[in-house]
Amino acid sequence: MSAVMASPGDVVELTLEVPQGKVISYNLAALCSALDINDPTRVAVETDGLRRALVTVYPSNPLAQVRAVTREDLVMDRHGRIVTGLYHNGHPVKKRLYDPSTGSAQRFLLFGTTGAGKSRALQIELIAEKINKICTWLADLKLGQSVPEAEGNVDWYARSQEEAILMLMAAVAVAQDRMRRYSAAGRNSFALGADPLLHVRIDEANRLLERGAPYRDLATYLIKELGRTGRSVGVSIGLSAQASHLEELGGSDTLRAMLKEGEVTLLRWSSSMMRQLVADGLLPAGEQLMPIPKTLAPRELRSQFDSEPEDDEDDAPGTQGMGYLLSGPRPTAMMRHLRLGSIAPLPGKDPEILALYGNDEPRRLEEVSHETAGVAYMLRHDPAAMAALCEQFRQAQQQKGAGQGTGSAGTGESSGGGPKKVRLEDRILAALADADGPMSAEGVLDAVNDDGGKPVSLGSVRTRLGGLVNEGDVARVERGLYAPAR
Ligand SMILES: Nc1ncnc2c1ncn2[C@@H]1O[C@H](COP(=O)(O)OP(=O)(O)OP(=O)(O)O)[C@@H](O)[C@H]1O
Ligand SMILES: [Mg+2]
Repeated sequence: MSAVMASPGDVVELTLEVPQGKVISYNLAALCSALDINDPTRVAVETDGLRRALVTVYPSNPLAQVRAVTREDLVMDRHGRIVTGLYHNGHPVKKRLYDPSTGSAQRFLLFGTTGAGKSRALQIELIAEKINKICTWLADLKLGQSVPEAEGNVDWYARSQEEAILMLMAAVAVAQDRMRRYSAAGRNSFALGADPLLHVRIDEANRLLERGAPYRDLATYLIKELGRTGRSVGVSIGLSAQASHLEELGGSDTLRAMLKEGEVTLLRWSSSMMRQLVADGLLPAGEQLMPIPKTLAPRELRSQFDSEPEDDEDDAPGTQGMGYLLSGPRPTAMMRHLRLGSIAPLPGKDPEILALYGNDEPRRLEEVSHETAGVAYMLRHDPAAMAALCEQFRQAQQQKGAGQGTGSAGTGESSGGGPKKVRLEDRILAALADADGPMSAEGVLDAVNDDGGKPVSLGSVRTRLGGLVNEGDVARVERGLYAPAR
């Protein structure tokens, strides 16, 4: 391995390279030990995934303090991007809200453990949506506790799981209606102008999608549907979640497609979350992210006979908002979201956040889609009527679920879930038809096991896949990858 060193000011930069034919990998702890650094947050490592790595050593954590976000940061540039944070080298982190070159609505995923800063990061985007005249439908599933300032600053603000489902149904209906209208007008893509972008955002999406959640199947289906139809008609879906496993989010297949194409932000994580993200192919194998500690307290060994230090760990600055924009051009560069509002808790809504939203009315859904959006949309600003509608929905779902004894809302989306016997072959065909592209046997296994039916093993999936290939129903597109024949 060879190394080159550059040192402007107090920052040291090392360029490392392994010989041709080798792939660079590193052990963070060993690297810090070699450099004799006891605070790993001073070190940033980025690799090109092949032979080279750039190691930057700062005199102190460069992201300990970041500036506050401004309205200017949140105005989309000509590529549809806004500034949401800073990388460790001080460069702006740009997140794409919309892709003007293709007219594509974006999908958003924000992961992190509790307190990592998911809701604030989401709120930065909600403010940006208001500033850029995007119509936002938000479900804050902590009963409206996570992003309270958004109330009145978005077109629809839902607090319960029932209302979130009604919102998702309305969004799917709007997307389908737009598709019909656009195709009648001879348009094959979305462009900003007449209809606004419609962004559906779900904070604490894990509550809606985790195993045992009352409307898990239905929510999964609707989110998948939005992911599928929304892109070309200006309807976007965004989830923020505390999840250690994609399985907790309605099944890995649903989200894998979103993850591949969406704007994905990873905040502080737990170790199991990380393992899963790697296992699920979200992070390229061999790629490492410097873990984000809970606080910036340096770890120092202290003699057992020394007295307790005065400023204990609780006084150390936190790391909320630090993370990685995995879908950006520098996925392994640590970044931090710009400061939004007060870090200390406030007794009510944060005036600094309210000021950023501004006093104007949020963008509303286009008139022609109001009827399609339905009764829930009409009643969204009438809490009593909405509560009654949600109760009605809850009871209807309970009655539906009662026959199946699953407690979940059957959707008819997948072949499983009901008491009737479904052939594994049909479940496999449904999974392949649903997928965005060819799937491996393991991918098919995940999808089949997510469909709500009887769990199956990889062996049986492989056997049935073989049979389906022989019968000409499934094609083996390349080694180990299957797709529906036709
Ligand atoms: N960008 C930020 N600017 C200012 N403060 C922040 C920022 N991000 C996080 N914080 C601070 O960290 C706290 C936790 O952040 P937040 O509520 O966004 O986390 P979370 O991941 O949504 O947590 P939970 O799992 O509890 O919902 C906030 O109350 C705030 O004090
Ligand atoms: Mg939160």
